Amino acid sequence: MTADLKFPAGFRWGVSTSAYQIEGAVAEDGRGTSTWDTFCAEPGRILNGDTGAVACDHYHRYAEDVALMRELGVDMYRFSFAWPRIQPTGSGPGNAAGLDFYDRLIDTLLGAGIRPAPTLYHWDTPQPLEDAGGWLSRDITDRFAEYAGILGARFADRVSTWITINEPMVLTLMGYSLGAHAPGKELLFDALPVAHHQLLAHGRAVQALRAAGAQEIGIASNHAPTWPASDSAEDREAAALYDNLINWLFADPVILGEYPSGMGDGMPGPVADDLAIISTPVDFFGINHYAPVSVGVATGQADTAATDGVLLPPGLPFEPRTLTGYPTTDFGWPVVPDAFGEILRTFRQRYGDKLPPLYITENGCAVNDEPVDGVVSDQRRIDYLDGYLRSLKAAIDDGIDVRGYFQWSLLDNFEWAAGYSQRFGLVHVDFETLERTPKASYHWFGDVISQSRR
Ligand code: FCB
Repeated sequence: MTADLKFPAGFRWGVSTSAYQIEGAVAEDGRGTSTWDTFCAEPGRILNGDTGAVACDHYHRYAEDVALMRELGVDMYRFSFAWPRIQPTGSGPGNAAGLDFYDRLIDTLLGAGIRPAPTLYHWDTPQPLEDAGGWLSRDITDRFAEYAGILGARFADRVSTWITINEPMVLTLMGYSLGAHAPGKELLFDALPVAHHQLLAHGRAVQALRAAGAQEIGIASNHAPTWPASDSAEDREAAALYDNLINWLFADPVILGEYPSGMGDGMPGPVADDLAIISTPVDFFGINHYAPVSVGVATGQADTAATDGVLLPPGLPFEPRTLTGYPTTDFGWPVVPDAFGEILRTFRQRYGDKLPPLYITENGCAVNDEPVDGVVSDQRRIDYLDGYLRSLKAAIDDGIDVRGYFQWSLLDNFEWAAGYSQRFGLVHVDFETLERTPKASYHWFGDVISQSRR
């Protein structure tokens, strides 16, 4: 069934994870406390009271996980550095034991013929930095530049591909605007400085990494087509505003050096100077994509299925709605393969010649099938990936320059506020025994990779 799903021979295949979601070992080797440790300890924040304290225990089992990747046949592995392992308090010299862990991981990957593609920041802020204002404070951009410099100095000799920040939109919206993720602040539109400071930190990190000799540098930003809930002028206007907030507020500054339609006016600091740093040329732009979103004018009847269960407060000018007529994943996200090609074409249209080469830095689905006699038959994940990869392939055939695809995720893992209830892995993890079982989708994905190389 994979036979006609064949990508260009040089296309790069990968899987993606992040530190807090898989590592565990939160109190080992001098790791400091992160905002996610703090958030998980607060009653009622995470489904079932789950935490990332053990997660997949990847910190101790990384060699087994690299062996799984080698067997799968990927070219690249996207993981993230835990900032509080590198700088337990968020500033000052690197923690030797933390750096050593990533040394071991990187050398094991290289030994298996897999290129590391680390992300500097995937939401686990050192708690002392949060206590000093976190991403609401401009000071964090200095700290982030220092952190990037430490990592570049240590690893740029062996790591050529780097990703600065994961999904600045989600940290802004879920972390500081709605409070569903760490640090749990509910600032609504007052969270916008968080967007600006992450973008500035991204630009500063690009410069620091480049100075350290890094070769291929980009960001991982999540993007989704925003569809008006109806053809009415009000719904179209509401959807356009939402589209600017979730998509272009984060991509325009990096790619064009400007904010969309006046949105820079309320940002803190010398915004024009900052935009020059934010738009420091990247070598690629990473897109994380899962599902489109339908948005209408506020009616007070927003459906929380469209926002992962988060109820938007009243008084906002827009309202995400449930998309009907599509199958959904176990997380409730609609499965719409064509939306993948659509967002890529929208990027090409919007940015034309200014669009850097793209990577798909995340794509995947929650399908919660359990092993039966040692076999996980996750056919719905295979169907999802088959549809989405065909849509991606069609966009590449149309001439969109996509260099590679990282599937989310190698392992079932800690899915933030949903705890361990949502399984995104190609490999099943038993969270009691920590046993790994490759699923049917793992073998299917491996076939797609190997036949694309033929
Ligand atoms: C993305 C996150 C990633 C994972 C997937 C399902 O928003 O970057 O950590 O949780 O969603």
